[in-house]
Amino acid sequence: MAFTFFFRDQQTLDLMAEYALPALKQNRYIRIWDAGCAMGPEPYTIAIILRENMGKFLFRNVRITASDIDESNFGDIISEAVYPEEQLKRIPAEIFQRYFEPNGQPDQFRLCDEIRTAVQFQRHDLLSLQPVRTDFGLIVCKNVLLHFTQEQRIEVIRMFHSALVDGGFFLTEQTQKLPPECESLFRQVTQAAQIFQKI
Ligand SMILES: C[S@@+](CC[C@H](N)C(=O)[O-])C[C@H]1O[C@@H](n2cnc3c(N)ncnc32)[C@H](O)[C@@H]1O
Repeated sequence: MAFTFFFRDQQTLDLMAEYALPALKQNRYIRIWDAGCAMGPEPYTIAIILRENMGKFLFRNVRITASDIDESNFGDIISEAVYPEEQLKRIPAEIFQRYFEPNGQPDQFRLCDEIRTAVQFQRHDLLSLQPVRTDFGLIVCKNVLLHFTQEQRIEVIRMFHSALVDGGFFLTEQTQKLPPECESLFRQVTQAAQIFQKI
């Protein structure tokens, strides 16, 4: 089972909202690809952070495509978004109160429909180098590229570049530096996180 949790690396996702959201909001739809999403906590966290930073009205335009090579990760998450309480303990208390409700089963909680329906899951192999769409405003790929060779990383990041609209954003984990071969494709928007804007 993949290692992931709700509100992992919240600092970077908050910086995403600060640096990328103003530009993303200019478009009719805010299209996001979370590549290597595991069992859903990351794309749902992104949706919650966006909802916290946007009005209810604008949030209706958010479309998150969450993909992973291992669809056994998804299970009932796609249809139900039900998680055991144990997996929800790192969520800030006021956020938990706002977005989760008891599921009627002991120690299980269900994510509210507003957040759940903003995320669509699908199986996808990043090493196919075929983007799922080519009109994303933001691509998040965290704790995945480290599993690839340097050559594969370069090819996957180039594929992400081709999947972004002009001025779109790419975000990865703090320890994943941009390969020199990809430096002409993006500019880093802050030194505090690995958030890049398509040139
Ligand atoms: C450590 S988890 C990271 C989950 C989440 N992004 C996070 O940071 O919490 C790595 C995920 O990458 C997925 N993965 C590995 N190789 C992949 C590939 N070639 N294409 C798509 N996903 C892949 C794994 O199935 C796993 O769910």
